[in-house]
Amino acid sequence: MRDRSGGGYVVIEGADGCGKTTQARRLARHLAEAGREVLHLREPGSTPLGEALRAVLLDPNSGELDVLSEALAFSAARREMLRREVEPALRRGAVVVVERCFLSTVAYQCRAPLGARAPEDLVREVTTALLGVARPDLVVVLDVGEDVAAARLQAEGRRDRIEARPAAYHAAVRAAMRSFAAAESWCAALLRRDGDAAGRSRIALVDGTRPIEAVATAVRAACEEWLA
Ligand SMILES: Nc1ncnc2c1ncn2[C@@H]1O[C@H](COP(=O)(O)OP(=O)(O)O)[C@@H](O)[C@H]1O
Ligand SMILES: [Mg+2]
Repeated sequence: MRDRSGGGYVVIEGADGCGKTTQARRLARHLAEAGREVLHLREPGSTPLGEALRAVLLDPNSGELDVLSEALAFSAARREMLRREVEPALRRGAVVVVERCFLSTVAYQCRAPLGARAPEDLVREVTTALLGVARPDLVVVLDVGEDVAAARLQAEGRRDRIEARPAAYHAAVRAAMRSFAAAESWCAALLRRDGDAAGRSRIALVDGTRPIEAVATAVRAACEEWLA
């Protein structure tokens, strides 16, 4: 894959219940079957610090946390994963498939909160530092309406501390995720490489409401475009 003698960093993003875990597993399996070394990771998590922070951040018993504390905790988990797992994997030429990235922090902590929000300029600065460790080649945002996502979570009986937030919050998360794909968003701009065509975004929006296999095909197509 481009620039890394076989390595690549792909993110599967989107709101709760959009199908990230389902699609990340499929993509990882597909790449492994194609003979690549693949690492499937999740944010927050995939390191001792990350999993400890995940447990606190998603536990309904943690109650409400200060929104900036939350943004920084997710960012700390991210940095740990980038340094300990992603960067070394890319250096040895592996493909890394990660559930979530900084877009989640911008959406969930900066854009969607109905009350106090984390300052976006600060999150942008922290993000810029993190991307210096490792930068996604492609972020696939699975776009699913709130009703569909809520029904999927309900069918699973799932409701962590963040999933339990009101419908208006989740609608705002989805709107934010959709907006990031625009080439002029600062999030897309941070992922741009020298040589990328003007107006092209490395954040690809994929319709996640279709059957699992159809979504998987669209995810693979996006990967082939950026990681060929
Ligand atoms: N395209 C799809 N169509 C129907 N159900 C899906 C689809 N993708 C995922 N699901 C189901 O929706 C639920 C949430 O999916 P999951 O992959 O856990 O989402 P996330 O990791 O984004 O929260 C799971 O029960 C999963 O089997
Ligand atoms: Mg998941």
